[in-house]
Amino acid sequence: MTASAPQTVPGFPPTPEFAAQANGTAELYDRADSDRLEFWAEQARRLDWDTDFGQVLDWSDAPFAKWFVGGKLNVAVNCVDRHVTAGKGDRVAIHWVGEPGDSRDITYAQLKDEVSKAANYFTAIGLTAGDRVAIYMPMVPEAIISMLACARLGLTHSVVFAGFSAGALRSRVDDAAAKLVITTDGQYRRGQPAPLKAAVDEALGTGADAAASVEKVLVVRRTNHDPNLPWVDGRDVWWDDTVAEQSPTHQAEAFDAEHPLFLLYTSGTTGKPKGIVHTSGGYLTQASYTFHYVFDHKEGRDVFWCGADIGWVTGHSYLVYGPLSNGATEVIYEGTPNSPDEHRHFNIIERYGVTIYYIAPTLIRTFMKWGRDIPDAHDLTSIRLLGSVGEPINPEAWKWYRDVIGGGTAPIVDTWWQTETGAIMISPLPGVTAAKPGSAMRPLPGISAQIVDDNGRPVTHGEQGYLVLDQPWPAMLRGIWGDEERYRETYWSRFADQGWYFAGDGARYDDDGALWVLGRVDDVMNVSGHRISTAEVESALVGHSGVAEAAVIGASDPTTGQGIVAFVILREGVENTGDTLIAELRQQVSVEISPIAKPREINVVPELPKTRSGKIMRRLLKDVAEGRELGDTSTLVDPSVFEAIRAKKA
Ligand code: WT7
Repeated sequence: MTASAPQTVPGFPPTPEFAAQANGTAELYDRADSDRLEFWAEQARRLDWDTDFGQVLDWSDAPFAKWFVGGKLNVAVNCVDRHVTAGKGDRVAIHWVGEPGDSRDITYAQLKDEVSKAANYFTAIGLTAGDRVAIYMPMVPEAIISMLACARLGLTHSVVFAGFSAGALRSRVDDAAAKLVITTDGQYRRGQPAPLKAAVDEALGTGADAAASVEKVLVVRRTNHDPNLPWVDGRDVWWDDTVAEQSPTHQAEAFDAEHPLFLLYTSGTTGKPKGIVHTSGGYLTQASYTFHYVFDHKEGRDVFWCGADIGWVTGHSYLVYGPLSNGATEVIYEGTPNSPDEHRHFNIIERYGVTIYYIAPTLIRTFMKWGRDIPDAHDLTSIRLLGSVGEPINPEAWKWYRDVIGGGTAPIVDTWWQTETGAIMISPLPGVTAAKPGSAMRPLPGISAQIVDDNGRPVTHGEQGYLVLDQPWPAMLRGIWGDEERYRETYWSRFADQGWYFAGDGARYDDDGALWVLGRVDDVMNVSGHRISTAEVESALVGHSGVAEAAVIGASDPTTGQGIVAFVILREGVENTGDTLIAELRQQVSVEISPIAKPREINVVPELPKTRSGKIMRRLLKDVAEGRELGDTSTLVDPSVFEAIRAKKA
């Protein structure tokens, strides 16, 4: 739990001007309440269907949902071709900005050609609907083109964040048995080219260790940093020599509404990431609906910018499927916010006249640290709506965001959702809701949530409970790839009697009934809006030859929301070399998982606090890490371990 909910604070009502032009209305909630399924059918009809659907929801095999039964559509055609057919081919879909300062504007007509070429190549190498494709790329246009080309052919993409290590890539490639891996030669990191294909080579291995499923590695030239890029003949091909040579015409086929669109791996409470499965019709319906209403998007007028990476679900739903299905014009930026300097985001907002800006609270807090002089040096008056995602936003950051970036008037949508929910679930509706700083306010029209206690009884206002989703929703995950049991166990066993989805978050209502999300209640940390499991980091740490045991917790952090704090016990006879050892351990985590999972702090301790059943009491370690009085220690085998831990920390 990382935020507290005041019992009641005033909200910021929309200005009459904003309300008058807003896509959302109070009536939308009424319509959804009076007939939820009919409401979703209406939203689905915002898309083009080749074959109309019959039943809106088949929940007879719960928790496995089928939405828009019998309907057929092509997701890529909905995101690209239909805008061209409607005469909007010259509209810019993507203003792409590279980290070194290069840029490309891609119209819908051009996007259609590029996606068609990639689809033709994927077909030429024998991929057919249902095959899996791994995408391990920085934020270059070809990453999005690849995702859409997969969608066009019914191939299931699995995007792996390019900041993940070779090991993390390999386990995802193997789990999904991907036939094709798409990557780049390198990627820019704070102005410098860094290798990326090298990680693919390492991940896929050779000879007896080679990833068995992979037939081809398709490489986009991005950094051109290595004239002797290692190459596996027969396996590796350049995008320029293959995709670029294809015909820009491609006849798309329609797929079933439940055809799998993508897998996206996310951390759970165990060390093994889960391949979250999303399908086509329901996912696109909700991604598209939420983009239109939550961001109040006006076609042909707005310029949208979501700062997420395509490696996360936010990048899938609000860089690709949500905006493009609505014919939006969006900005995609390849690099970090301080490259070449801290003005980068604000320069981009000015240059393209960004009207809707969607980022994570961590970045807002980073901007606050850099100081308001930086944004104040720019004309940000184009901005009319701001969004926040990924972690609870503290009221101070909310107010700063609105005042400094939003000119004191822009509504803020604090959007709660998850990889598993596929699209936004709980958020203010701009123009309708008087949003309170720090509250996600209320479920969107068509979405139903509750806050309940251990026994599934609704909590009273002010009381903390578990956030559950008590009705299925169109973009809900359809399972965990290859692990039906884990799907039931993780999400549906906690409130099995009621048949509710357990989100893993704590929440409460304030006296006005506004909903405040308080953070994870399981062993999942949230660092800069990135979800990392304590178990994954622990397993990376014990992978070091010197470590006997490790316990990891997320301690509150003023910038990143939570910071990773580790406690390790060394093996008998291993010498504690101090900073050298700590550096090695941090490196170990970086290599095993990703630099984003590196602990902020590692404490070498003589013992870990355990219950009689051998469970590590993370709650108490968190008290230590956050410098609090210890909570209840009565179930510990040996409460005195804390003296030793504290002594080591001091
Ligand atoms: C977890 C999901 C949503 C896409 C990015 C993260 C936390 C997300 C909020 C918010 C408070 C939030 C929750 C959730 N979270 N948005 N607006 N307020 N907490 O997706 O990696 O699947 O993580 O992020 O704890 O369970 P994810």
